[in-house]
This record gives sequence, structure tokens and C-alpha cells, in this order.
Amino acid sequence: MQNKTKRVPFGWKFASLFTILLLIVAACSSDEPSNTPKVISGVTVFRDNCMNCHGADGNLGMNGAKRLPESTLTLEERIQVVTEGRNNVMPAFKTLLSEQKIKAAVEYTMQLSDRK
Ligand code: HEC
Repeated sequence: MQNKTKRVPFGWKFASLFTILLLIVAACSSDEPSNTPKVISGVTVFRDNCMNCHGADGNLGMNGAKRLPESTLTLEERIQVVTEGRNNVMPAFKTLLSEQKIKAAVEYTMQLSDRK
């Protein structure tokens, strides 16, 4: 009789411990996505800095902007154009965006080309 009454509370203690553990694990795994905003999103950089002239799909061609999906430039050449600007119409972004952001935006323009 004494044994039985002791066992029940122990069982419950383990059950609640297990539940708390599960909650901690759940809380930790839901924390993971908070790391993702640190990754630079090429789409976001492009949308914020390039879309006015080039358009969401790179085809707008505002003020003589090149149609990016038709561009034959390599990644390195595009980084050069975006960093230094060209013909006073394509702005230089070296003072506006970090190297990583320029690269992310240019990588996004490479994807636009692949899609054509
Ligand atoms: C003020 C308008 C404007 C903005 C903003 C702009 N561009 Fe341009 N871009 C142009 C124009 C105009 C050209 C064509 C330049 C020329 O005469 O060669 C061009 C050319 C380019 C080229 C060269 C394409 C080729 O094949 O020759 C790339 C790559 C490019 N832009 C990428 C970007 C990226 C990436 C951004 C954002 C970080 C951006 N541009 C923002 C106007 C703009």
C-alpha cells in the first residue's frame, strides 16, 4: 500500500519533467529562424535599390537601364558595374551598399538571366 502511493507521485514528477523538457526543446527550435534575417537577401537588396530602374524582373529598362535578364555580363563584371557605376546613368553603389549586399543583389540578377 505504501509502495503504491509513493510510485504514483514519482510517475507524475517524471511526466511533468518530460513535458518541461519538451517545451524547452520546442522553444529552442522555434528560436532558430531568428538567425535567418542576418543572411543578406539578394531579392530584398534588389527590391530596395535596383527595382526603380530595372523593375522587379529586371526588364523595366527605365532611363535606358539594361534589361538584366538579357545581360551577358559575368558575376564579376556586374559587381564591377554596380560598385563603380557606368555612363553616369547606372549609379555607383560602393558608398551606398556593403560589398556583401552588392554581391547578393548581383547574384539575384544572375538568377534573372537563368530564368529567360
Ligand atoms: C537610377 C537607375 C538605376 C538604378 C537604381 C540601378 N541601375 Fe543598373 N543600370 C541602369 C542603367 C541606365 C544601366 C545601363 C548603363 C549603361 O549605359 O551601360 C544599368 C546597367 C546595369 C547593369 C549592366 C547590365 C549590362 O549587361 O550591361 C547591371 C548588372 C545593373 N545595372 C545592375 C543593377 C543593380 C544590381 C542595381 C541595384 C543595386 C542597379 N543596377 C540599380 C540604371 C540603374
